[in-house]
This record gives sequence, C-alpha cells and structure tokens, in this order.
Amino acid sequence: MVPVHVALPAGDRPLASLPAPLPLDALVPGAGPWEVELGFGKGRYLLRRATEAPERRFLGVEVVAKFQQLFAARARRRGLANWLALRGEALYLLAAVLPAGFAAAVHVYFPDPWPKERHQKRRLFDPATVDLVLGLLAPGGTLAFATDFLEYGERVAAILAGVPGLTSRRLDAWPEGPRTNYEAKYAAEGRPILRLEATLAAPAAPLHPEGAAAVLA
Ligand SMILES: C[S@@+](CC[C@H](N)C(=O)[O-])C[C@H]1O[C@@H](n2cnc3c(N)ncnc32)[C@H](O)[C@@H]1O
Repeated sequence: MVPVHVALPAGDRPLASLPAPLPLDALVPGAGPWEVELGFGKGRYLLRRATEAPERRFLGVEVVAKFQQLFAARARRRGLANWLALRGEALYLLAAVLPAGFAAAVHVYFPDPWPKERHQKRRLFDPATVDLVLGLLAPGGTLAFATDFLEYGERVAAILAGVPGLTSRRLDAWPEGPRTNYEAKYAAEGRPILRLEATLAAPAAPLHPEGAAAVLA
C-alpha cells in the first residue's frame, strides 16, 4: 500500500494526524461545491479549474508522489486556497478515507485500463468498484470520463448504463477542448477518444447490481 500523503495550501499533513473520513470542510474552508479528479497526472485540468473557479473547492487524488508535489507547488505559487491533493491509491482512499456523497463533480481522464483479466478488479470502473467512484457524488452530481482505450470505454459505458438513477451521454469533445495532457496529446495524434458525461439523480448512488452481488457474496 502506498502511504497516503495530504498536501494543502498551507503545507503538508500526515494522514495519521487526520480523522477518517477526512474532514474536508475543515481542511479547505468555504461553502463552495467540491470537484474531485482521480489520477490527475501532471494536474493540468485540476490547476486550470482551481484557478478559474476560486468559489469551488477541488480535491485531487494521484498515486505518483512527484505529480502530487508538482501540482501542490504550482497551486501554492498561484496562491490558490481552494484545493487539497492526496497522494495514494484511489480505490483505497475511496473505500477508507474520503466521505461519501460530497462531490458536485468527479473527473476521471485516461485512467489505467488494466487490460489483463486478472487485473481488472484494479479498474476504477469495474462492476465491483464503480460504486466507490459514484459514491463520491452528491445528488445531481456529474461524472466526466475519457479514455483512448476504447474497449475499456465501452465497458465503462455499459456499466454506467446499468446504474439506476444515472443518466449518461457520449460527447465528441468537451466544450472547451482537451482537458488533460493525455487528451491533448492523443487528440493531436488523431487517436479516437471515448468521452462520457453522467448525471446522478437524487438521492445517492445505489449499489450497482453486479457490484452489490460481489460485495454481498
Ligand atoms: C494515463 S495517466 C492520465 C493522467 C491525466 N489524467 C491525463 O489525462 O493526462 C493515469 C494517471 O493515473 C494515475 N494513477 C494510476 N493508478 C492510480 C491509482 N490507483 N490511484 C491514483 N492514481 C492513479 C497515474 O499515476 C497517472 O498519473
């Protein structure tokens, strides 16, 4: 397990000094809605959004320490106060550390597709794990997803289509153009990209039928 590391505008905190679930409103004070990005890489999208929407609050999760630190250093240099960046395994953080139902938006761009069958349980969007991701969303919240690994993208679309209360649609592009470094690179290469946007109706993400079976088995 990768040790979890918490970066905040005022400095870094060990996870052990904080209760679980994380008291997000105390760590990043304000009344603005939360947006979460899982696997933010070099943080291009998270940094842009935190800069252009100072009234909202942003939580990033990234397993690679140098990317988390790069984002934190850039956000501090810009004087941004509306963010929190966790270095750690997304599925562990979703299951054990983050509160449920707090996010107005969850962003997942070009997540690792784990193509080998035996590794697919590590996917963020597997029938057994999708509830952890959707469980972040507040009623009315949206999920944005993109991948160039089309087989995985089709599987994600099928999994989301089976979730009661979730309405998904495909997009040819985001209104503002490519959001992340991977998207910009792949779009420039002309590589096909599958993009999804899904909205969760009230009240909360129910268990996906397949996921529920896996959990209850
Ligand atoms: C293919 S890159 C995409 C980066 C960025 N989202 C983009 O679109 O440019 C996948 C990112 O997810 C991160 N990642 C992979 N597995 C992860 C996990 N279990 N928890 C958190 N982040 C993870 C990787 O370190 C990497 O930065």
